[in-house]
Amino acid sequence: YAQEEPAPPESSPKPARADAQIAPPSPSPSTATPAVAESPLALDSRRIAQSANNLEALRAALENFDGCPLKKTATNMVFGDGDPNADVMIIGEAPGAEEDRKGAPFVGASGHLLGRMLAAIGLTRESVYITNVLFWRPPGNRNPTSAEVATCLPFVQRHIELVSPKVLVFVGGAAAKTLLDRTEGIMRLRGKWYEYQIPTDAGEAVSIPALAMLHPAYLLRTPAQKRLAWLDLLSLRAKLGELTQSVL
Ligand code: URA
Repeated sequence: YAQEEPAPPESSPKPARADAQIAPPSPSPSTATPAVAESPLALDSRRIAQSANNLEALRAALENFDGCPLKKTATNMVFGDGDPNADVMIIGEAPGAEEDRKGAPFVGASGHLLGRMLAAIGLTRESVYITNVLFWRPPGNRNPTSAEVATCLPFVQRHIELVSPKVLVFVGGAAAKTLLDRTEGIMRLRGKWYEYQIPTDAGEAVSIPALAMLHPAYLLRTPAQKRLAWLDLLSLRAKLGELTQSVL
């Protein structure tokens, strides 16, 4: 992610910066199984994550998991927060200093802005479920390595399966690229809807609509881009309206 990222933040990791033109929407490939061969460690984390049948079991499995070296330098694990039955699941990049201290996601400056963004479309942080693609803070908010991301990914995928939201929101380039299995920057990915696929035992994948958005840490540094974030929030509100109507 490094070449896309602006200078490191004070208290929260940076989202990818975007300077590319907006690409036309394109469907995401299946995101549940990485296209590249998994390392033995990633296979191990997949087996452990899959055996967790509820969020508490997944949290406990992660507490006992020593496969991610970030755990050694972090103060607290940051698992998730909010309503586990939420319609909206928001996935950010990694805990920053404040999140590491408190053991909860998005509780620093980025979290404050995220709360205001949600409020703008009638949501609250208590009414959504929030987590990250990494459960431990990278030292000094450095960019996570691909190995760290790969090791945590099966837990994140299981996390999504267990929360099973109506809509996923990936904030920032790290979450969007990892979970959509795409290489484009966030400026190309943002503002469009993708289908995040969860494979089922029956063999057919279940799809969850997923939106990529700009990261609040990026918006704090680049307030002019709030205009784009507003468009994305409106798109989220419209999608939630559609989905709620279709079940009435
Ligand atoms: N930035 C993130 O991506 N996640 C957090 O939890 C905090 C800041």
